[in-house]
Amino acid sequence: MNTDPVERNAINPIQLVVAAPDFQSGLSFFVDELGFEVEMIAPAEDPNIAILALGDFTVSLDKHSKCSPVTLEVFAEEAELEGTCIQGPNGTKINYVTRTKKIISEPRPDPIFTTAKQVNSQWVTGRADMAYRSLIEVPNSGVTASHIRIEGSGEVPDWVHYHDVGFQIIYCLQGSAKLVYEGQGDPFMFEEGDCVLQPPHIRHRVLESFDNLEVIEFSSPSDHATYADRAMSLPNKMFAPTQEFSGQRFALSRQSESQWTPYMGNSSLRIRETSIADASGGTGWVTIIEATGTNDTNESSLNPLITEDNPEFLLWFVLQGTGTVTHHKKEINLERTDAMVCPYGYSNETEFALTDFDEGFKVLEIGLNNL
Ligand SMILES: [Fe+2]
Repeated sequence: MNTDPVERNAINPIQLVVAAPDFQSGLSFFVDELGFEVEMIAPAEDPNIAILALGDFTVSLDKHSKCSPVTLEVFAEEAELEGTCIQGPNGTKINYVTRTKKIISEPRPDPIFTTAKQVNSQWVTGRADMAYRSLIEVPNSGVTASHIRIEGSGEVPDWVHYHDVGFQIIYCLQGSAKLVYEGQGDPFMFEEGDCVLQPPHIRHRVLESFDNLEVIEFSSPSDHATYADRAMSLPNKMFAPTQEFSGQRFALSRQSESQWTPYMGNSSLRIRETSIADASGGTGWVTIIEATGTNDTNESSLNPLITEDNPEFLLWFVLQGTGTVTHHKKEINLERTDAMVCPYGYSNETEFALTDFDEGFKVLEIGLNNL
């Protein structure tokens, strides 16, 4: 066993073995076409084994190996390479894949208005012992919205990571959490009523949660990937609160920092905007709608909601109280932690109206624009 520390650390201890009966062609393919560097080659006079590295990835090219040919996925640096495949010597295949997923606008089934009632909901245990409850029962809606909770208080076994998303927010329902984001300075407390816009690819980490944390997380597209960033530790040195990530900025919208304004011309309803719409460059928005009195049916709350815009997706989550929404002449009673969604293709056929509410009825509205 070699115990020389310099020698032992010089080469990645894990290597992918690639059989190369045609050794010189294989070597040329990895070095000249894929950009690998030779870390070791032997014997000098007639090589039959080489260790090749590209970044942290290491290949052991072996003339005498009986391994099956390998397929490698490589991020395409040029758009025209995306989705293409090349075959090298010895059966090696290279698939060029996209580095960043884009919001997919495939033809989708007809929009469906659905509700997710707390009483019928199923909680599942996900990453880091967090419990998840989906708020969307529409398959292929292109969006995920989850009610997430962490019992008690304590450290969260999270790591620095980022999400390949087009739009993503988290809203704090109860409890609090200590969060840290790339370029935003020291960790901060995320508290009830606060909302964070997580721009695409911003590195972040949940450090601790307190007092039975509950949040709503809304993401588009639904099939986005989450990547670990082992190279970055947070907080990082660079303070850049206005940095843009794919045209969006990080935003922490504090409940205490925004104003109420009248809503829908109804003296019993008011709305609180957040800074999410502005920070997301208009990609989506988050607002709070609250009833300060009981419904007066002579007023315009009977009007369909959102008739001028054409949102891609709209979600209501009931924060408190009870209300009645009418959709296609059907009355739907909503209570605390119920949710309803009106997905893509929102139109006159799928419009709904808030037809009744109690004083204190309060809704979190999350919208995604049809850009
Ligand atoms: Fe995250």
